[in-house]
Amino acid sequence: MSTPHFHRLTVADLRRETKDAVSIAFAVPPELAQAYAFEPGQYLTLRATLAGEEERRSYSICSGLDDGELRVAVKKVDGGIFSTHVNSAVRPGDSIEVMTPMGRFTVPLEPRAAHAYLGIACGSGITPVMSHIKSILSREKQSRFVLLYGNRSSRDIMFKEALEDLKDKHLGRLAVHHVLSREAQDLPLLHGRLDVERITTLVRASLPETKIDHAFLCGPQGMMEAAQIALAESSVSGERIHVELFTPAAPPPAGRRSRTGTSASEALEAIATATVRLDGVTHSFPVAADEGVIDAGLRAGLELPFSCKGGMCCTCRAKLVSGTVKMMRNYSLETWEMEKGYVLACQSRPTSAAVSLDFDEA
Ligand code: FES
Repeated sequence: MSTPHFHRLTVADLRRETKDAVSIAFAVPPELAQAYAFEPGQYLTLRATLAGEEERRSYSICSGLDDGELRVAVKKVDGGIFSTHVNSAVRPGDSIEVMTPMGRFTVPLEPRAAHAYLGIACGSGITPVMSHIKSILSREKQSRFVLLYGNRSSRDIMFKEALEDLKDKHLGRLAVHHVLSREAQDLPLLHGRLDVERITTLVRASLPETKIDHAFLCGPQGMMEAAQIALAESSVSGERIHVELFTPAAPPPAGRRSRTGTSASEALEAIATATVRLDGVTHSFPVAADEGVIDAGLRAGLELPFSCKGGMCCTCRAKLVSGTVKMMRNYSLETWEMEKGYVLACQSRPTSAAVSLDFDEA
C-alpha cells in the first residue's frame, strides 16, 4: 500500500443519482493516471475548507475498471456539511482536493474464474458494490453476481437504471433483488428490511446449492450484522465475507484547533515524543495525554495521511518501529498486520516516552 497523497482534480461531470445523491467524475491528467489507478471497492477522500475548517470525507468509487472514468457517489446526509456542499455547490469545472485511492474492500479479479458473488447493500452502501459488479461482469466473463439491495422506496434506489442496463448487457449473469421497506411489492418477501430471515431466504433462492466465492456487505450496522449471521447460517466462511464500514469523520479534538486550524500545542503538556517517517523525511513532535499520533502530528503542522479518524479506513496505517502504543479502536487492521507491527496512527496513543512510526513501510 503506497502512501496516499492529495492532488487537486477537476470535476469533469456531475450526475444526479437520486434526489439526495450525486455522483462526481474527476478528470485525471495523464501524469497522475498511475496514482489514481484503483481497485473495485476502494474509496477517495475529498478535502475542502468549509466554514473555516478543514474537512475530509471518504466516498466510495462507483465506476468499474472498464468505465474509463474515476467517479464517486455522494449521498447527502442530514446535517452533513461536506455532503451538503457537494450536493448543492459543486459544479463541473470546479477543482477539489482528492486523495489517491485507498481501501481494502477488494478481491483480486481472475479472468478465467467462474465465481458466484453476492452483494448485500442498503442505501448508498451500493456505491463500492457497484464498482465490483461492473468490474466483475466485465473482467470475469463466466462469473455471476447476485445483489440484494435495500432501500426505503423505489425513489431512493441509486443506480437503478445502470443496474437494469447491466442486467440486459450481461444476460443471466446479474440478478438484482430490490427490497423496499416502505413500499409494497408484488412479492411480500421483497417488502421489508434486509433482516436475517429475509437475507437467508433470498440467498437460498438465488444461489441454491452454490458455493458463494465472495460476499460484499456495505450498509448500516444492523444490516451488516444481519447479513453476517445469515451468511454464517448458509456456511459462508468468514474470509469470503468482505465488509465495508464507514463512519463520519471525527471532529478535531475540542479546544485544540482554532477555526482556521492553527496549532495550539503550547497549551498541551507532552507525555511522549513521536517520530514519524513519511515520504523519506523524518519528523518529531510532542504528543499530549489522550492524544493519537495523527492529531499530534496535525497540531505540529504536519501533513499526515488520514481519512476517517475512526479506526475504520486504514488510511493512517503505519509500522511501529520502536516504542509502544495503545490502539483505542481497530475495525480495519487484520491480525497478521498487527503481528507484523502495523498500527492505525489515528488510534495510537503512546505508552512509552518515545515512539517511532514509519508511514513509508505501510
Ligand atoms: S484515519 Fe481511518 S483508520 Fe485512521
